[in-house]
Amino acid sequence: MAAGEANPWARFGGRPLIAPSLLACDFMRLGEQVDIVRAAGAEVLHVDVMDGHFVPNLAISPGVVASVSAGSDRFLDVHLMLTDPLFYADLFIKAGADSITFHVEADSDAHAVIDKLRAAEVGVGVVVKPATSAEAVRPFIDQVDMVLIMTVEPGFGGQSFMADQLDKIRAVRDMVGGDVRIEVDGGINPETVVRCARAGADTFVAGANVFRAPDIAAAFTALQIAVASVEAQ
Ligand code: DX5
Ligand code: ZN
Repeated sequence: MAAGEANPWARFGGRPLIAPSLLACDFMRLGEQVDIVRAAGAEVLHVDVMDGHFVPNLAISPGVVASVSAGSDRFLDVHLMLTDPLFYADLFIKAGADSITFHVEADSDAHAVIDKLRAAEVGVGVVVKPATSAEAVRPFIDQVDMVLIMTVEPGFGGQSFMADQLDKIRAVRDMVGGDVRIEVDGGINPETVVRCARAGADTFVAGANVFRAPDIAAAFTALQIAVASVEAQ
């Protein structure tokens, strides 16, 4: 990122963040469940957007993002699983995204997407699928606020954590130094969150293990405690 340009993630300093993923909500109770994680201390909400083409599933529309943005004061971390993020990014910027992450495997010109996001003064992230190497993010590391490393195949919540992604987390942390956030997404629970934190991640998306838990607030808190145990070592 060029000096003087705003990185909206900077408001969190370097502290670790648990980002509950709305994909796993009961959408009949979306507002109520957002309020539960807010009250439990969630500062960031993760929003998955799927086009049925880049991934074989459909998920959260700009209209829902606008409602969550208007109805909560939390930072919206929008993950675009879209073939054409350059075209669709505007809809999510207008809807109130605070940060937008797009796949390096998408068809759009990545530098054009970065320029669009930076001009809109939202956070800028790139994300890699499990089969994509750490080297794929190297061309962008000076221009992004976050690198997201998928720890499941994108498209569906509730999958098992892929431990073979831990080496990629370490490699990307070595590449970016301390100033870029590293987020992990998929299969995050109180055990895998610790492994990811030790490998160098600082931002942890959790869907099923928060919103499908019998006690949502307790499940969120368990993740925070697990991450804090790594920090304390
Ligand atoms: C998967 C999504 C994830 C998903 C994670 O494509 O990017 O954000 O919500 O879900 P869990 O935590 O259930 O694996
Ligand atoms: Zn996601």
